Amino acid sequence: MKVIVITGASDGIGAEMARQLAHAHGSAVALVLAARNEQLLMEVAGQCEALGAQALVVPTDVTVQDQCIRLTDKAVERFGRIDALLNNAGRSAHALFEEVADLGWYEELMRINLWGSVWCTHAALPHLKASKGSIVAVSSIVGLVGVPGRTAYAATKFAMTGFFETLRMELKRAGVSVTTAYPGVVATRIRVRGFNAEGKPAGVSKLKEDDAMSVEECARLIIEGMNRREREVVMTLKAKVGRFLKLVAPGMVEDMALAAVKDDAKPH
Ligand SMILES: NC(=O)c1ccc[n+]([C@@H]2O[C@H](COP(=O)([O-])OP(=O)(O)OC[C@H]3O[C@@H](n4cnc5c(N)ncnc54)[C@H](OP(=O)(O)O)[C@@H]3O)[C@@H](O)[C@H]2O)c1
Repeated sequence: MKVIVITGASDGIGAEMARQLAHAHGSAVALVLAARNEQLLMEVAGQCEALGAQALVVPTDVTVQDQCIRLTDKAVERFGRIDALLNNAGRSAHALFEEVADLGWYEELMRINLWGSVWCTHAALPHLKASKGSIVAVSSIVGLVGVPGRTAYAATKFAMTGFFETLRMELKRAGVSVTTAYPGVVATRIRVRGFNAEGKPAGVSKLKEDDAMSVEECARLIIEGMNRREREVVMTLKAKVGRFLKLVAPGMVEDMALAAVKDDAKPH
């Protein structure tokens, strides 16, 4: 039986990855579901169990290192092993840097997106080495290309990109794969929940959402990348082209990034 730990499993991409893994593997998989909202986690666990999988809910705030350690401990205590860790918990943010008076939430965002992933990975690593397992890091296209209004979010996601790129090389000989996923705009509530300039939930998205990818497709692509032990999952043609264009025509990529932002959220 494969044991898969998913952070940010109470909603959005994480919850959908749990359901898809349960659907694909049934009783051959045990899912360890982590996030802060226990009630939502229980609902996702019920959906996975209805598909035949085992599920363990571990309420976890990834900004607290002890809770990340406890997550690994609970998984191993119950199932005896860990085959995959999906570092998916994350929060969004959108604000022009000059409009931010108090930078406290910049640090908080780094604790969620970067440190939460680092702490969970550090705790689970001995078990992942023992199983020659897989690590997944859900970064973002904003972890490859900056977007106006996203200094805080881009910093956390570029940091994830660099951390996991390096870790991939360090773990190559140990047989642990590291897959970094770079979703573009996916139809979840992440931007509505993200920090605004005052460090409060934004309540609205400041990106154009018309071409958003479905959460089902995004989850499927990440799982496929993990199963194939791919280095990276770059999801859209725009992201694939943008990444290489950045090397030869960075000005064009800046124009593309600005075009993704709603008019009322563009720099003045
Ligand atoms: N949606 C997109 O367009 C998009 C694009 C690129 C990258 N991503 C990345 O994809 C990942 C999932 O995003 P999503 O769109 O699925 O967002 P979402 O629907 O808002 O879900 C975010 C998940 O993270 C959890 N979370 C937030 N803060 C946490 C904390 N301190 N400790 C533990 N869990 C926490 C939330 O659960 P609780 O509130 O219950 O803790 C929730 O389960 C994130 O890393 C995000 O940056 C998303």
